[in-house]
Amino acid sequence: MATPSKTPAVKTAPKTTAKSTAKSSVNKPTGNTGKMEDSEFHEFFVDELKDIYWAEKHLVKALPKMKKAATSPELAEAFDKHTLETQTHIETLEEVFALLDEKPVAKKCDAMAGLLEEADSIISDTKAGTLVRDAGLILAAQKVEHYEIATYGTLKTFAENMGHTDVVDLLQQTLDNEKSTDEALTQIAESFVNEQAAAE
Ligand SMILES: [Fe+2]
Repeated sequence: MATPSKTPAVKTAPKTTAKSTAKSSVNKPTGNTGKMEDSEFHEFFVDELKDIYWAEKHLVKALPKMKKAATSPELAEAFDKHTLETQTHIETLEEVFALLDEKPVAKKCDAMAGLLEEADSIISDTKAGTLVRDAGLILAAQKVEHYEIATYGTLKTFAENMGHTDVVDLLQQTLDNEKSTDEALTQIAESFVNEQAAAE
């Protein structure tokens, strides 16, 4: 006959230990704890900052072209506003580099290069003075904003994990601005739908 089941000998670890282990694995993505690894992650973080720095520097040159190509004054104005904001994003990144004691170096961002190439194709594939042109420009610009939102969102989380509070605040400011730009573009797109509906 089987004997009554015994209480398992293994005790569960106290909650606090489990929590702190989980937290440290978030802080140190490869799961090791060496100093070398911290510096590797720092290097990776700085590299990604260089990537978005390149992206912003190229976007600030592309936005005036998009403004010139736009049909509606609302969209042209939105591109104008975001050109100035993008200049601020560049300066904010320079502040981030300074806080980290790193040089602001731009490193080619293939994603932004591709997105801006797509914006160029939209301009050449659509007729000037049409709402189709504007619809295409909004699509291209929102793809750019979503790329930036993803980048700043993740970089902000990395900065949080590394304890760079001042960097977190700066990245959050830019992230908030990219989000409001995206929302403004959605509103312009929605107003076109209404305009077209009114014209029918
Ligand atoms: Fe930006």
